[in-house]
Amino acid sequence: MSEKYSTIHYHNYLELDALLSLQKERSKALGEAAHDETLFIIMHQVCELWFKQILTELDSVILLFREERVREDNMHTVLLRLRRVNSIIDLLIEQVKVMETMTPLDFLDFRDYLFPASGFQSWQFRMIETTLGLREEDRLTYHGKSYKIVFSEEQKARLTDIERGGSLFDLVARWLERTPFLRFRGFDFLSAYKEAVERMIARDQQHIRDSELSPKMKEMRLRVLGDTTTYFRHVLDREEHERMVAAGEARLSYDATIAALLINLYRDQPILNIPFQLLTELMVIDEGLTTWRYRHAQMVMRMIGNKIGTGGSSGHDYLARTAEQHKIFRDLHNISSLLIPRSALPDLPEELARGLGFHFRGDE
Ligand code: HEM
Repeated sequence: MSEKYSTIHYHNYLELDALLSLQKERSKALGEAAHDETLFIIMHQVCELWFKQILTELDSVILLFREERVREDNMHTVLLRLRRVNSIIDLLIEQVKVMETMTPLDFLDFRDYLFPASGFQSWQFRMIETTLGLREEDRLTYHGKSYKIVFSEEQKARLTDIERGGSLFDLVARWLERTPFLRFRGFDFLSAYKEAVERMIARDQQHIRDSELSPKMKEMRLRVLGDTTTYFRHVLDREEHERMVAAGEARLSYDATIAALLINLYRDQPILNIPFQLLTELMVIDEGLTTWRYRHAQMVMRMIGNKIGTGGSSGHDYLARTAEQHKIFRDLHNISSLLIPRSALPDLPEELARGLGFHFRGDE
């Protein structure tokens, strides 16, 4: 066998001597050895290894998305890697159970040795959040200070760099804005969609008026429908949308939102199916991380009740609030409120429908 492919033993390939010597229990070194500290260290180390793998996948996806035109064959790779991220997040959620085999009393045997170490200081976790698109202004503040204060200058600089437009959220938003199908030879998707919404609402109003309901019930249902009409008009108006973005109520630009809407409505068209799957995977990542945050918060409640965390936060309360507040792809979830039934969708011109098969070229 050539020098290049010289053999290697399993043990050496995986650097097991180094890896297995990294569990250094402080209770053993500084006082009385606490049995469960090994589990506590291994659980965190395993999480950090998975964080590393998640970052490897996200970084590669970002590289593919940076290209001016995201190539279709790359989209398959992107999907596979995002699915891998989601499988890892599922594992992270599942393994909280293993941590919970430690009882609160056993934790107290060594908790004092940890201060002030905390998951707060997990740079890889912050990199995952930031790479996905969580910005400084979206975060709960840490005693009024930046979450970055616990990191080195180099680590802070990496996080700031991504925050300035290099996140997956930013790249996906730009990709959506470039969607070529919004206008096609006289077919204006948005106008057709707005008309379809108006038609659907007029039909629903007529159903209510023709129904056997009491006048009071009819009035109430018509009022609710009126609110829906206002909602649709509100969201589909460019100026109103821009106002929402400026006020922090929405994050995706108007054009990106409309493109995401089109992809969701016409996802059965072959060319829009992969973009639809991509948007879905991003939402699944958000859901998975939210579930992990809740799961971790629940575990923390069991372990330390209402005590403050070793990192100085309010503990369970802080963690439970991050679950709601630190969502990243909220705008994609909100698209569901704009969906209308397939039966009410405007028909696509035949030429466009044919084009949305596998061979669409925007400049044809
Ligand atoms: C007995 C087990 C655990 C307890 C009691 C615990 C407790 C806490 C607490 C109280 C916080 C809030 C920050 C603070 O004030 O310290 C926190 C944050 C965090 N923990 Fe844990 N944790 C445990 C296990 C784990 C494990 C196994 C991981 C896996 C890496 C982990 C990852 C994190 C991360 C990433 C944060 C930051 C969350 C954020 O700020 O959004 N924790 N933990």
